[in-house]
Amino acid sequence: MIRNAFTEAFGIQHPIVQGGMQWVATAELAAAVSNAGGLGLISALTQPTPQHLADEIARCRKLTDKPFGVNLTILPSISPPPYAEYRQAIIDSGVTIVETAGSNPAPHVAAFKAAGVRVLHKCTSVRHAVKAQSLQVDAVSIDGFECAGHPGEDDVPGLVLIPAAARKLTVPVVASGGFADGRGLVAALALGASGISMGTRFMCTVESPIHQNIKEAIVQASERDTELIFRPLRNTARVAANTVSRKVAQVLSSGGQFEDVRDLVAGSRGRRVYELGDPDAGIWTVGQVQGLIEDIPTCAELISRILREARAILTDHLPALLQKASAPIPAGR
Ligand SMILES: Cc1cc2nc3c(=O)[nH]c(=O)nc-3n(C[C@H](O)[C@H](O)[C@H](O)COP(=O)(O)O)c2cc1C
Repeated sequence: MIRNAFTEAFGIQHPIVQGGMQWVATAELAAAVSNAGGLGLISALTQPTPQHLADEIARCRKLTDKPFGVNLTILPSISPPPYAEYRQAIIDSGVTIVETAGSNPAPHVAAFKAAGVRVLHKCTSVRHAVKAQSLQVDAVSIDGFECAGHPGEDDVPGLVLIPAAARKLTVPVVASGGFADGRGLVAALALGASGISMGTRFMCTVESPIHQNIKEAIVQASERDTELIFRPLRNTARVAANTVSRKVAQVLSSGGQFEDVRDLVAGSRGRRVYELGDPDAGIWTVGQVQGLIEDIPTCAELISRILREARAILTDHLPALLQKASAPIPAGR
């Protein structure tokens, strides 16, 4: 049992969060994670309208009586979704936990806080984490360069970013990007975080609503099988390496503009990947941690395994190392 300021503040049993995932984080997945004692999050913008989000929240509530939340990703867009209406749907539905992500959560935090919603803000740099803390968020999730999705433009991996954030913040820090097992959880705690958030690992579980072929593709893939796209546009995204992402990266790095890749990166194509199970149908998001993923467990199996592994490391493996270190070194060696 690992309890700390984060689990207390968010009312969860284990310090394990399922990050928001477009097209993946539906009520089934969020409820499965929450039922297993973690924090499941529904992705707001996977739902086409605020009313659909309200319905999805109601569906999740039927699937679990444990705390769950909603991820609201705020991205720059030519025709932005009605964020204020999504925010109101979250508040009206009585959800008490929100993960904000994508850009400055300032326009939303005050309304959430006034409604008694706890805010976990996800970002990719210490300066943005400090800014979010000044807005009174309740915790910060920090995504290292290895993460799936948008790692930002600083390219600082978790091994440096997590302790750098923990050193500067007083609110709990959740380590995100590259976590899949008990070793990762213990490492995150050692680096000063209060818990872990996982995207790719939860995407490859029984309850994840994507096609079985894609889960199996994740199991087969190595840590080298991701591609960074949109680098020249300063909107970097880490996605699965496939024929489409390699083409996008090549067009943009040789001077192409967004217009030249618009059709290749269309969300509708990416969605087909998950629906049809064709990993080359479009752009889809995945992290380097896929190289550590070897199976497709239920969320309950996964969370209990992570806790079991973490406990064994903390109570057996590391103490045994300390004992060895304090034993006298035999002469002549
Ligand atoms: C398929 C997929 C879709 C994602 N979509 C979103 C999203 O819409 N909003 C968001 O804030 N993060 C999104 N993420 C990022 C995750 O919430 C999380 O920060 C990231 O996966 C952590 O890295 P990991 O995959 O190594 O665990 C997505 C990740 C995946 C794998």
